Amino acid sequence: YNDKFLLGKKVLVTAGATREWVDPVRYVSNPSSGIMGYSLAAQAKALGAEVTLISGKTHLRVPASVEREEIDTALQLAEKTQKLFPSYDFLFMSAAVSDFRPETQKPSKIKKHQQETLELRLVPTPDILSMVSKTKRPEQVVVGFCAETDNPLEEGRRKLQEKNLDLIVANLVDKDKSGFEVLTNKAWIIDRKGKEVELPLLDKRDLAEKIFLHLKDFLQQ
Ligand code: C5P
Repeated sequence: YNDKFLLGKKVLVTAGATREWVDPVRYVSNPSSGIMGYSLAAQAKALGAEVTLISGKTHLRVPASVEREEIDTALQLAEKTQKLFPSYDFLFMSAAVSDFRPETQKPSKIKKHQQETLELRLVPTPDILSMVSKTKRPEQVVVGFCAETDNPLEEGRRKLQEKNLDLIVANLVDKDKSGFEVLTNKAWIIDRKGKEVELPLLDKRDLAEKIFLHLKDFLQQ
């Protein structure tokens, strides 16, 4: 398995968390490290693709010869992904997008001595993956991810359909072992043609390799 089956292909990967600002010094976010997305980008590059990473803030090293665009908020990620997607062959949406953002951003720091409690009103962010997959051309391949604490397989099947994906990787969020801020993931791969694979706990780099192996098969069927 070292043939470069992505030679001449363009791969877009989103990675990391988005941050939704409350005021200039506070935000709502999640613990996504970006490691899964950066591993996918490195693997796609190794398989011959031209790769662009749209990444939330992280200290990870950008894989060699991978182009990187930095975003901060879900709205910025939405804008950049929608802009770039039409000229790519593959999209891997591994970013952990905040599902909600504060309805208003205070222009100055909220002062704690002026109030006893603080209420935040959050409004939903756009579902980027659903929006983008609606515009997908038949030859484009869209891969989603979902991080779940319960029933990853069922959630994965549902989101594959709902978001009109070719393939989804559902992973378990299990403190210390799988998901956020760790190097390993316990995952299931589910594709649109009905193939489902349960994988053991794997290093995220090995999971990235498995995902591309599965995709290679999927594309040949
Ligand atoms: O949050 P959820 O489980 O629905 O995420 C599933 C997939 O949808 C992921 O690939 C994630 O990047 C994407 N997503 C998105 N926009 C959102 C929320 C999630 O593109 N607002």
